[in-house]
Amino acid sequence: MGSYQDFFDRSITDPDGFWGEAAEAITWTKKWDKVLDDSNQPFYRWFTGGELNTCYNAIDRHVENGRADQPAIIYDSPVTDTIETITYRQLRDQVALFAGGLKNLGVVKGDTVVIYMPMVPQALVAMLACARLGAVHSVVFGGFAPKELAIRINDAKPKVMVSASCGIEGAKVIPYKPLLDQAIELAEHKPEKCVIMARPQAEAQLVPGRDVWWDDLVAEAEPAECVTVAATDPLYILYTSGTTGIPKGIVRDNGGHAVALHWTMKYLYDVEPGDVYWAASDVGWVVGHSYIVYGPLLYGCTTIVYEGKPVGTPDPGAFWRVISQHGVKVLFTAPTALRAIKREDAAGEYLKKYDISQFEALYLAGERTDPDTYQWATEMLQRPVIDHWWQTETAWAIAGNFRGIELLPIKPGSATKPAPGYDVRIVSGDNQELGPNQPGVVVVKLPLPPATLLTLWQNDQRFLESYINPFPGYYFTGDEGYMDDDGYVFVMGRVDDVINVAGHRLSTGAMEEVIATHPDVAECAVMGATDDFKGQLPVGLVVLKAGVDRDESDITQELIQMVREQIGPIASFKSVVVVARLPKTRSGKILRGTMRKIADGAEYSMPSTIDDPATLGEIEEALKTIGYAQKA
Ligand code: COA
Ligand code: AMP
Repeated sequence: MGSYQDFFDRSITDPDGFWGEAAEAITWTKKWDKVLDDSNQPFYRWFTGGELNTCYNAIDRHVENGRADQPAIIYDSPVTDTIETITYRQLRDQVALFAGGLKNLGVVKGDTVVIYMPMVPQALVAMLACARLGAVHSVVFGGFAPKELAIRINDAKPKVMVSASCGIEGAKVIPYKPLLDQAIELAEHKPEKCVIMARPQAEAQLVPGRDVWWDDLVAEAEPAECVTVAATDPLYILYTSGTTGIPKGIVRDNGGHAVALHWTMKYLYDVEPGDVYWAASDVGWVVGHSYIVYGPLLYGCTTIVYEGKPVGTPDPGAFWRVISQHGVKVLFTAPTALRAIKREDAAGEYLKKYDISQFEALYLAGERTDPDTYQWATEMLQRPVIDHWWQTETAWAIAGNFRGIELLPIKPGSATKPAPGYDVRIVSGDNQELGPNQPGVVVVKLPLPPATLLTLWQNDQRFLESYINPFPGYYFTGDEGYMDDDGYVFVMGRVDDVINVAGHRLSTGAMEEVIATHPDVAECAVMGATDDFKGQLPVGLVVLKAGVDRDESDITQELIQMVREQIGPIASFKSVVVVARLPKTRSGKILRGTMRKIADGAEYSMPSTIDDPATLGEIEEALKTIGYAQKA
C-alpha cells in the first residue's frame, strides 16, 4: 500500500492523480472535468465540472448498497436518559421528509438556513436536509449568546432558521427559543420562517405566522429527492472567531469536502464502513460537522450523537460507558475533556468498570495535547493516543498520524507529520522559510487540499487579507510552531488574538469590544492566560475613566455579565481586574504578549520599546489579586 512518505510525496507531486483516485469512492451524477482547477489563483477549486449530492452520498447510497438496516446514528443522551438508534433507512426517510418540509417553506438550492440546535439527532437531520436540497446550512453553536447569533444571521441571511425549545447542559435546561427570538429581534435580517423542535424539558411560544413546530412541518411534507449540485457549490458556512468581533464565515464546497472526508476515515482514523465512530464534540463546531456528521456517514459508519459531558453525566466513567455500550472503535475529543476526567478519576477507577476491548485509538484535537495529558491517557488506555492539528478553515487534519497508512512513532507534544495534501512550512515574519527546529509561523504552501475553505462567505477580500496576503504563496494558519529534524510538526499556539478555551476557539478582540462599551471603561485588554484545565482562559484588564468612583468589584461583575450575555457562557470570561494604566510601547501599542507572560508567572524580558517600565510591576500586582502571576 505504501508508506506515509509515499502517500505524502504523491499528494504533493501528483495531486490530480492522488485526489482523483480518492474521488472514485464518491458517487457523482457527473464526473469532474478537472481535479485541481488552478485557473483562478489563489481561489483554487477541486473537481470543477463535477456534480453530486452530499446527502445522497452520506445516506441514500448506503441504503441502496446494503446498509439500510445498519445504525447510522446512535443518540446517547444521559441528560434525558435516552438511547435511540436510527438506521440508515430511517435516517433517509427522516431527512427526506424534513427536506420536504423545508421545501414547503420555500427553501431551494442556494438558500441559506441557520441551525441553532442542541446535540440531538434532529440537528443532523436538519443539516443533511439542507444538503439534500442544495441549500447552504450554517450551524451556530448553542453556547453563543443572541448577539453572536444575530451577527451570524446578518451575515448568512437565512431564509429559514431551525431550532429547538431547549438545550440541556449537564444539569441545566437552557431554553433556546427566547435566545432565538432575541437574536432575530437584534438582527437586521429577518428570516421568513423558524422551525422549532419541541422538547419536553422546556416549552416554547411560537411567533404566529413566522414559527412552525418541527412535527407539524413534517406531518404535512412529502419526501424530497436529492438535488444535484456542482462540486464547487457551497455545502455550508461555519462561522469561526477571528481577531475582531466579526466572525469569519468559512465556506465549504460539496465535492472536495466529500472526497477528503471520506478519504480520512480510512487513512487517518483507520476505520471500516460499519464501524462505530464517535466524535465527542458538538455539531456547532467544525469537529462536529466533519466527524459527527459528514465523515462517518459518507463512509457508512455508525456515528454517535452524545448529549452529555465527560464528567458529571453522571460520572467520569461516561466516555468509557459509551465506548463499551456501543462498541466504539475510535473516539475523537479535545484534550480538555480528558483533563476533566483525569481531575476526577486520575487512577482510572471508572475505566476499570467497562469492557472497552473493541476500542482501538483515541484522537485528540482542538488544542495541543500537552505531554502530561498524553502520558496519562496512554497509560490508562494502553492504546495509541493521537494528537492531530486542524482548524475550522481546513475541515480536517493539517498534521496527524495517519494510522490507516502506518502508525508513525508518537512524539508527545507533536501532531506528528503533515497530512497528505498539506505542504506545511515554517516561515519567519518576513516570509523566509526556516529550517528544522526553528520556531516561526506555520504556513501551508498553496494549493490547499480538497475540503479546505473556498473563501469567506461573500467576502473574498477578507479571505485574501486574512489568509493569503500575509505570506504570499502560502496559506497563513495563524499558528506558530516548528518542525523538528524528522519533519514532525509542533504547533505551540496562535500568533493572533485568538484563544483556545476548552477546545473552543474564541476572540479576545471580540471580548474587548464588549468591555469597551461599558460606560465606566476607558481602555481594556483581554488576553489568554494558561489554564491547567481549559488550556487557556481569558483574563481582562481595564482602566476606568477619570472620575469614576464606583466600587470596582461592581464594575468587574458587570463586565463579566456583559461578556456572558453578549458573547455567551462559552467565553468563560470570569477574571477581570482594574488597573491604573496598561503597559504600552512608545507608539501606543498595548504589550499583550508581555502581559500574558506575567499572567502565566513566566520569565519575560523588558521590551525595549516600552513607554514606562513601571507599568509591568503594577500589572503583576493586579493580576496576583485575581490568582494570576504566580511564579511556579
Ligand atoms: N449551550 C449553552 N451553554 C453552553 C453550551 C451550550 N451548548 N456549551 C457550554 N455551555 C456553557 C457551560 O454550561 C458553561 O456555563 P457556566 O459558565 O454557567 O458553567 C460555559 O458555557 C462554559 O462551558 P465549557 O467551557 O464547556 O466548560 P464546562 O465546565 O461546562 O465543561 C468540559 C468543560 C471540558 C467538560 C467541556 O468543555 C468539554 O467537554 N469539552 C471537550 C469537548 C468539546 O466540546 N470540544 C470542542 C472541539 S473538539
Ligand atoms: P478551531 O478552528 O476551533 O478548530 O481552532 C483551530 C485552532 O485550534 C488552531 O489554529 C490551533 O491554534 C488550535 N488547535 C487545534 N488543534 C490543535 C492541535 N492538535 N495542536 C495544537 N493546536 C491545535
